[in-house]
Amino acid sequence: MSFGPIRRMNWRGMLKLHRRCVRKPVFRTLAGSVVVCEPGLARQVLVDADRRLEHVPAFWRPGGVPLPPPVCAALNRWVHAGLAAEDPDAMAAVAVDAVAASRGDLHRACLHAVAEATRRPLGLDRDGALRGTVTEFLDDVFHAMMTGSRRFPDKDTFLRLAARAGAALADGAAPDFPEVEADVRGEVYLRAVTAFVGASAAALTWLICVRQSGDLVAARRRAGAVEEASPEHVALETLRLWPPAWQHRRPVLHDHRIGPLEALRGDEVVVPAYALQRHPRYWADADVFDPGRWAGSPSRHQAFLPFSIGPGACVGASFEVRWLAAAARHLAAAPPLALTRRSTAPCVTAVFSAPEHTLGGR
Ligand code: HEM
Repeated sequence: MSFGPIRRMNWRGMLKLHRRCVRKPVFRTLAGSVVVCEPGLARQVLVDADRRLEHVPAFWRPGGVPLPPPVCAALNRWVHAGLAAEDPDAMAAVAVDAVAASRGDLHRACLHAVAEATRRPLGLDRDGALRGTVTEFLDDVFHAMMTGSRRFPDKDTFLRLAARAGAALADGAAPDFPEVEADVRGEVYLRAVTAFVGASAAALTWLICVRQSGDLVAARRRAGAVEEASPEHVALETLRLWPPAWQHRRPVLHDHRIGPLEALRGDEVVVPAYALQRHPRYWADADVFDPGRWAGSPSRHQAFLPFSIGPGACVGASFEVRWLAAAARHLAAAPPLALTRRSTAPCVTAVFSAPEHTLGGR
């Protein structure tokens, strides 16, 4: 199965990892991962000047096999060109309106809202069949992967949807989608959908909870924090405390030394963004939601790595910050959403998203 099992590390496990990271900057886990939670070293590891790690992101590894570098580059250019043609503010307005009009599961609402906002670059505005396929993919496969509500993704459904997406692409549904082998074209497209939609939707779930919930996940709120702050600072502080990509994993290709440890071929290096971005050594009042901390400081704090860096880093990073800031502004201007929390723990899979909630309209 090309999307593999759904890794639902539980929230308790994530907090345990965080506590361990605070005690020790570099350590090896029993599973063979080398965890690096020191900002300078983490950046050095991810930039990987000597190319000792595999950097092809999971997006571009259909069936676990990395696509050839020119294909990855073409896909990244396609994503980039799609974003460059969009206005983040207009996209955020579409997404916030779509969430406001939704009822039921918050994650589902955010997935569909972000897909609606990115309909043009994804080709969903041109092709009804592709739109229907993506809707089913988000509902029947990706929602379970994001919330961890199933142990494994529905393989048969996924393969059927990938074949349908592949056929629509062969008919030119998504403009300028790069040349990819026919047998994986549909799957690669659905992976591109997850790049466009997945982390953004997770960030939107957190942003909505920051505005609406009195009970923040593992954080305290500074009084007046949201009302007084600039939307960009709200976006950055949301990404700091609740990074959708909560860890950056890189397989080791060649043995080498990382700080005090030897990383061996076959190991995995892990940069735990969640732990780094809440580390008390690098952040004052690390667990306090305080957008004001970003005022007058560069957004590139050394211990802030929500989009990773180096080869394989997010091509949507700067767009995402502008988009999320615009979403914060639109949410602030809109009447509050009625939200009912259904679980205490957040959803921890490959993506870190808010606890499950039900949207009940305004
Ligand atoms: C809060 C939102 C987002 C977060 C947290 C995020 C995070 C990341 C991270 C951590 C990676 C590296 C993957 C890895 O380590 O294997 C990545 C890669 C990527 N992201 Fe994002 N991302 C976000 C939004 C977006 C958006 C909106 C787009 C485009 C529409 C996008 C497109 C991509 C692409 C294409 C890659 C692969 C880059 C490559 O192959 O070099 N991301 N993202």
